[in-house]
Amino acid sequence: MTARPAFLAAVLLTGVAAAGTVGGSPPASELPGLEVLLPRTGGVQALRDVLGGRPALVAACATYCAPCRAEVPVLARAASRWGDSVRVLALFTDIDDPERLATVVRDWGMEVDAYGVGPDQDAVLSRLLPDGLPATFAVRGAQVARIDRLASDADLTALVATHLTDAPPPGGRPAFVRYCASCHGEAADGHGPVAPALRRPPPDLRPILQRARDPRASILAALEGDHLVAAHGSSDLPVWGRRLSEPPPDDPADDPQDGPLEAIVRHLHSLRR
Ligand code: HEC
Repeated sequence: MTARPAFLAAVLLTGVAAAGTVGGSPPASELPGLEVLLPRTGGVQALRDVLGGRPALVAACATYCAPCRAEVPVLARAASRWGDSVRVLALFTDIDDPERLATVVRDWGMEVDAYGVGPDQDAVLSRLLPDGLPATFAVRGAQVARIDRLASDADLTALVATHLTDAPPPGGRPAFVRYCASCHGEAADGHGPVAPALRRPPPDLRPILQRARDPRASILAALEGDHLVAAHGSSDLPVWGRRLSEPPPDDPADDPQDGPLEAIVRHLHSLRR
């Protein structure tokens, strides 16, 4: 693996690299073809297949890179801010073994998916990271942009807005407060003002979502009647008055990008810890 001295990263605060502008000019455009090591299975796959066409922020890091470690909370915030609309992941350029990857993920307290690199990727990596680490890439299909420095929340927001999506960050909190918080509580912890009056206590939704294999599907099931929740009423006449998938026009609690249902699902997804 290419051992890059960590001090380089601190010195080279070069901002948006010229080579990394959208349009996929080399060398940043090689990133989607990079062979990455999958967590757990230890399989190897091209990054573009891992992303499956979803816009993504890819933070290149290495175990010896202290500034990269400082980025961990920034990445976690970006993941919860953008929910499903932007994939956020870390790419360890000096790990090629799944067990080591799992150990570092645990030690660093990483909440975003982390990958290593496959065999024989050193040449590509050195072209991708001419200024060393840290570096963060915004990937949208074949288009790749890069910043060569420790990324802040503002940097990631700017990268997303410039290169990944025009949609505003998912804003489902107002809709959740309006339709769900009376029972489940504003924090989704089950302590809404109506909760004491219910025969069955509303659950803390956070551990449920944490455990769920597909949190989005289980929220939808509880709301759209596939999985009956008596306290929610019938799917024809739910307690929130009408099907959330049919938003009325001009409702200020509704996310203008789509219906309140999707916004609520994204909001709950972002609370998952
Ligand atoms: C009138 C009170 C009330 C309102 C309003 C309400 N819920 Fe619930 N919800 C409950 C109760 C009570 C349960 C637990 C039912 C049970 O145990 O059978 C529940 C269960 C759930 C579950 C299922 C958890 C599991 O076990 O899988 C989800 C998800 C959920 N609610 C989400 C929501 C969302 C999202 C909203 C807003 C759109 C909402 N709820 C509005 C009372 C409410």
